Amino acid sequence: MHKETRKPIDYRMLFALDDDVIHFNAASVTPHPKVVVEAGQAALEVRRRPWEISTHHFSKNMEQLRGLIAKHLHCSVNSVALVPTVSHGMETVARNIELGSSDEVLIPSADFPSCYFAWRNACNRSGAELVLAPRPRLGDWTETILQHIGRRTRVVVVPQTDWSNGTHFDLKKIREATKAVGALMVNDISQSFCAAPYSVEEIQPDIVLSVGYKWQLGPHGLSFMYVAPEYYDWEPLETNWLDRANSADFTRHAEFRDDDLPGARRFDSGQRSQLQLVPMALAAQSFINEIGVADIFQNICGLNKWIAAGLSELGCVVVPDADRTGHLLAFSLPNWEYSASLMLALKENNISLSLRDHKYFRVSPHIYNTAEEADRFLEVMKELLQSHMYFTSRSRATDAASG
Ligand SMILES: Cc1ncc(COP(=O)(O)O)c(C=O)c1O
Repeated sequence: MHKETRKPIDYRMLFALDDDVIHFNAASVTPHPKVVVEAGQAALEVRRRPWEISTHHFSKNMEQLRGLIAKHLHCSVNSVALVPTVSHGMETVARNIELGSSDEVLIPSADFPSCYFAWRNACNRSGAELVLAPRPRLGDWTETILQHIGRRTRVVVVPQTDWSNGTHFDLKKIREATKAVGALMVNDISQSFCAAPYSVEEIQPDIVLSVGYKWQLGPHGLSFMYVAPEYYDWEPLETNWLDRANSADFTRHAEFRDDDLPGARRFDSGQRSQLQLVPMALAAQSFINEIGVADIFQNICGLNKWIAAGLSELGCVVVPDADRTGHLLAFSLPNWEYSASLMLALKENNISLSLRDHKYFRVSPHIYNTAEEADRFLEVMKELLQSHMYFTSRSRATDAASG
């Protein structure tokens, strides 16, 4: 790899990775940095001695985590809720919007199921129409979405980055269009949060959701939801005792008070203190905070540019730089029929990436990946594409597709 694109800092040493595996699959799940593993181990230690659990474990960690999520989203800490999944957050939103039979909800076709089902069901309940914007043949999702926003549009659900192939959505432009027709904009940024800059202040969305276990380097089971202040009075999905205003006072719980915690905290799911998950998520967000999202983005984009150029030289069809957010790269083979067998061959070479929509090889490195790994991947690809020996067995190809 060219010297200028080499990373000046060795982030890899902050992870405990196996040297013989290339993990280019952050879009599926990331390895935890060592500090996150340590935070998880320390949290388990606390559970071994529960008599030492204090209010610090219940609330302080959680508020620190909320503060870091707010920092990375560029919003107020009061607007952040901690939820288990994106689908949980999406369901909260879909249950709180009163749709009528003349309304439309717009989402990209082949969007992630956690976005689709909540709105499909809301449309079925109300008679509203779910409009699936078709994937554009060339990369420009923004234009396609803009073309589908009209007078009847009530809600637009869009990511910052297409989860299958990394193409970009210009959320500021889409926001302008939703404002012009009085529609809500909901962003699921699971595939970009903490890897690419995103700013609530600039974009002014109504709702933002993200998982915490992909680019965010944290555990499964804890996701994040931004709620704009005008929706603080929406109904949460559950009425949990910890979300009451007096929940910190363990002597007064049986007063059954109705007043909630301030801001979006009332959308926190039950058992929100998550004694194992919160310390790990906090360690992951602190780690990201120390490096900075801008540096993380620059690093990943540098690797991807190099990989994209190499793949193009090998004859692969690469989503162009200009159409991608930058951190998530995808390529396809000129003949998609061979995709599953190439996938299997890459797996046999200890290269982990994923195949989406039967044709997009999703290459999603993170700061733990090195220039040497990018070169090794390109060498393996060259050998495989030249040899063709992996493109013969159909049964093995089926195995790879399900892996
Ligand atoms: C774009 C996107 N949203 C959400 C999720 C996860 O959704 P949930 O938290 O509902 O399981 C994923 C998982 O791959 C995803 O890629």
